[in-house]
Amino acid sequence: MTKPKGLLVLVLAVLIAAGGGLWYANQVRQATDSGPVVERTSIDEQGRPLKEWTITAKAVQWEIAPGVKTEVWTYGGSVPGTAIQVTEGDHVRVKLVNRLSAPVSIHWHGYPVPAAMDGVPGISQDPIAPGQSFTYDFVAKVPGTYWYHSHVDSSNQVDRGLYGAFIVLPKQETEKVDREYTLLLDEWSAMTGGQGMSGSMPMDHGNMPMDHGGMRHDNMPMDHDQMMKIMYNIYTVNGRSGSQIAPLNVNPGERVRLRFINAGYMTHLVHLQGQPFRVTATDGRPVNPAPEVTDRVLAIGAGERYDVVFTAGSHSFAIDLHDGTPASRSVVIPVRVTGDGSSGSPAPDGKAVPVLDLATYPKGSGVQDAGTWDASYVWHLNSTFVNGEQVYTINGKTWPNTDPIPVKTGERVKVTLINDGTSDHPMHLHGHVFRVLSRNGVPLQGTDLEKDTLLVRPGETYEIGFVADNPGVWMFHCHDLHHAAAGMMSDVEYRDYHGQYPVDKSKDLR
Ligand code: C2O
Ligand code: CU
Repeated sequence: MTKPKGLLVLVLAVLIAAGGGLWYANQVRQATDSGPVVERTSIDEQGRPLKEWTITAKAVQWEIAPGVKTEVWTYGGSVPGTAIQVTEGDHVRVKLVNRLSAPVSIHWHGYPVPAAMDGVPGISQDPIAPGQSFTYDFVAKVPGTYWYHSHVDSSNQVDRGLYGAFIVLPKQETEKVDREYTLLLDEWSAMTGGQGMSGSMPMDHGNMPMDHGGMRHDNMPMDHDQMMKIMYNIYTVNGRSGSQIAPLNVNPGERVRLRFINAGYMTHLVHLQGQPFRVTATDGRPVNPAPEVTDRVLAIGAGERYDVVFTAGSHSFAIDLHDGTPASRSVVIPVRVTGDGSSGSPAPDGKAVPVLDLATYPKGSGVQDAGTWDASYVWHLNSTFVNGEQVYTINGKTWPNTDPIPVKTGERVKVTLINDGTSDHPMHLHGHVFRVLSRNGVPLQGTDLEKDTLLVRPGETYEIGFVADNPGVWMFHCHDLHHAAAGMMSDVEYRDYHGQYPVDKSKDLR
């Protein structure tokens, strides 16, 4: 693909074999990447380091694939948005200025912020209107790999690019590394958005074009997940795909940490080709000292994070996706070892590689399920069609009619998640960490698998337990945000919490 200089708009039409549809790409202006730069550092009244940012939500043109430019919505002018990195114990203050045409917010995914800072419209704050701003202010109490994203019309807004990394370095590093990289995965749909216009089209149930094989022979509407596999035709890492993916440069013998964050809606199967590695954390929480493995795929559900550490050898290698979709071939991340001339163009290896199973991988003494739960709940996750529209349900109900989990501060709550459907449901609880107790009736063998987002695959049953230690009203939903938008959402409601913000679930802005 060529990029004629001086041409303001370049429109390309590419035939998609799958549906005969048209891809358009335009070229307007180049946006810039931004790094983890703290805008202002000072000391707060309590003697803590205070780190402050002003982040502007705005639309820019972004080249998500070579020659494919599209309008994206960003935090700070890039996809992913401004990288926010602090140290455990820091006081964090982020002023979000909205220069978009729609209201936005920031939700700190997985992070135990106070309820008023959780960024959920109708639950913890009003959406930040165009031209307005809001300041998020909290103390970074725990270290780890987290991320932030909009929670207003989120199935649409996160799709358009409103997300970024939130990394909290530990005060005392237990996993010393020489260098590290943060890698945010996402999926895009670059298709025509109207009369000669172009853009990445947010995937809403309402505007799903049905001319891409949307009907099956039996005239049943096509399953949403099948549709998505066709519609999302470009995958990215850190907002880039194909030849524009920046190589990870390392020196031989260096210890390297990779922080994988799945900011998309699909499960991604990440493979470090032939490189021995250990998983050191998931969802920001350390995994017990775990053995090194080679050629095991990480199945990273939407919203989940995995930290891995490896020691660079003398040979370059590639990280590819084993999702099995055509679009997954657009993400191959070169890892270039200094002095190794052999690094040509890395490619997907197409090998069959088994999935690394976190339920059994870190050998430990086993989870003690003390059995003293103040309450337990069973959630059946499924999907059905209502008036021709596919909805995603918890115990047969859709938000806001799902049954909330009522708690009091200090209670211990067990939830059994049963996936009765045919799609992955990465279930995410805001503001808390939960312990994974069992899978398919078998207690976890590794100890202390703690998460805030748990990939529950079709047919699986997980028991999880959490301590109600963060008073508020907290969303608990599937992080395939299309599923959440189509009903798979509930909440945990503290009966002894009386916040300033008048909770109104009927606002349903999510
Ligand atoms: Cu990452 Cu309610 O979301
Ligand atoms: Cu789901």
